[in-house]
Amino acid sequence: MSASSETKRDFVSSELGTKEYWDKTYDREIESFKEFGDVGEIWFGEDSQERVLDWLEDCGLVTIEDPVLDLGCGNGIMLIEMARRGYTNLTGVDYSEGAIDLAKSVAHKEEITCINYQVVDLVADDCTEKYTCLTKKYKVVIDKGTYDAISLIPDDEMEARTAYLRTVKRIVSDNGLFVITSCNWTEQQLLQFWETDFELLEKIPTPSFQFGGQQGNTVTSIVLKPKS
Ligand SMILES: C[S@@+](CC[C@H](N)C(=O)[O-])C[C@H]1O[C@@H](n2cnc3c(N)ncnc32)[C@H](O)[C@@H]1O
Repeated sequence: MSASSETKRDFVSSELGTKEYWDKTYDREIESFKEFGDVGEIWFGEDSQERVLDWLEDCGLVTIEDPVLDLGCGNGIMLIEMARRGYTNLTGVDYSEGAIDLAKSVAHKEEITCINYQVVDLVADDCTEKYTCLTKKYKVVIDKGTYDAISLIPDDEMEARTAYLRTVKRIVSDNGLFVITSCNWTEQQLLQFWETDFELLEKIPTPSFQFGGQQGNTVTSIVLKPKS
């Protein structure tokens, strides 16, 4: 048995693992954006996004021209912020058409034109052949909450997680970085699952709490690199 298949989830499936849930969510968020200009939820908060972006800026491994892909980009705010910081080669994908419509509307309003968006199912068979933006390799691949959502799929979550791992492996360049932020998995669980093909480059510090003598984190952000 591979290390990844031993990483069992210790939480139950939920509607957050279904496309119907995300379609409904983004339909609502588009209406709200049109009416009030509200961009919707930034998962795990703005601080969490800033920590990832600050790390990328400070690590000395990434230039602003390097290709960046945001997996399950939702409203695309991570990419908007990257565009504001000067990155020029940005792509966002999500399987919900509503998410991509919302992301495009937000970028349009912000007059940001350097982001390419595509509707993509990251766990679909042959997705790295059938979607143009997944036929390329990226220096930086970002996941904030998407592996979490995939892990909540009611049936066959392990199959979906394994398909997702296969997709990520195909699109991260040999010297690339996979930056994953999760609230469902601990650092140890993430490493155990991804270690078939990736190794830890760095843990991005996140706020921790103490309870009953145990130290824990509400959100985990780690940077992985492909195993050579
Ligand atoms: C928790 S939200 C995070 C959104 C965004 N990354 C953020 O940080 O605000 C999870 C996102 O993953 C997307 N998603 C879930 N499963 C997916 C799949 N199989 N392919 C592509 N996108 C998926 C959902 O539509 C949703 O936008």
